Amino acid sequence: MKTVFITGTSTGIGEAAVRLFAQHGWNVAATLRHPADANFQDLPTVRTYALDVTDEAAVNRVVQQAHQDFGSLDVVVNNAGYGLVGPFETATTKQIQQQFATNVFGVFSVTRAALPFLREQKSGVILNITSVGGRTGFPMNSLYHATKFGLDGFSESLWYELAPFGIQVKVVAPGGVATDFATRSLQMTLDPADAANSYAGQVRSVLEAFRSRSGNHSTAAEIAEVIYAAATDGTPQLRYIAGPDAQALLKTKAELPEQDFMNLIRQNFGLA
Ligand SMILES: NC(=O)c1ccc[n+]([C@@H]2O[C@H](COP(=O)([O-])OP(=O)(O)OC[C@H]3O[C@@H](n4cnc5c(N)ncnc54)[C@H](OP(=O)(O)O)[C@@H]3O)[C@@H](O)[C@H]2O)c1
Repeated sequence: MKTVFITGTSTGIGEAAVRLFAQHGWNVAATLRHPADANFQDLPTVRTYALDVTDEAAVNRVVQQAHQDFGSLDVVVNNAGYGLVGPFETATTKQIQQQFATNVFGVFSVTRAALPFLREQKSGVILNITSVGGRTGFPMNSLYHATKFGLDGFSESLWYELAPFGIQVKVVAPGGVATDFATRSLQMTLDPADAANSYAGQVRSVLEAFRSRSGNHSTAAEIAEVIYAAATDGTPQLRYIAGPDAQALLKTKAELPEQDFMNLIRQNFGLA
């Protein structure tokens, strides 16, 4: 029986991935900050572990513990993450550090903790959840994009480095997904109610544009299907662009001259 280790499984994509892998008969190490929030009692092959991915010592401990409990570790899904939205200039150092600690350094820690096991067995998959925002930038999301573009480049380079050990590196890049991402998990660098701020108009336009698109979002279950397929297809494919919105957007980006594409994005977000 194979084992998958997933971070950030309290809600959304992580929770849906836990359910799907378990339904396919996998052992699942479901990690989350507050295990009391877990809702996997109906899934006997799932074990939950308390894990904040920004705590490197805890990451090392929990990866070891999960490997010991299940006797194997085959797939790692680096899913935990959140969005920091708003002007770069008004972000605090603490917000920036927390964004990178979670979305980037958390992935580094989990990956480094898992690699000795995967190298030893000469197989495994490291699967990083990035975003369409790891391949193209939207206004007012500079810091989130910095993390997801960073993960995308990290993953592409690691793909070469780990191939000789039989380890596949994969990226699943969703477009919009109906989860807690845009509500509970979202942090702002500027209070949208702060109308006097020079960036207030841009913030309003961008938030409104994101809101107006929420009807087209994929479900977390649909993204989990892409994750499961990527983890099990046995191919060396690096990137999986998940969701019709993400696929259409990146196709447009590939086809248009850069300036035309950027003008289109500016228009779509209601910016002058
Ligand atoms: N939803 C979208 O539109 C979308 C689009 C593209 C990419 N993504 C990516 O998909 C991933 C999952 O997001 P989601 O959409 O499923 O949103 P979500 O429902 O808000 O889930 C985010 C998960 O990350 C966890 N998390 C946050 N900080 C953490 C930390 N320090 N340690 C451990 N876990 C932490 C949250 O745990 P708590 O419950 O403890 O807060 C939660 O379980 C993220 O990496 C996100 O960037 C989402």
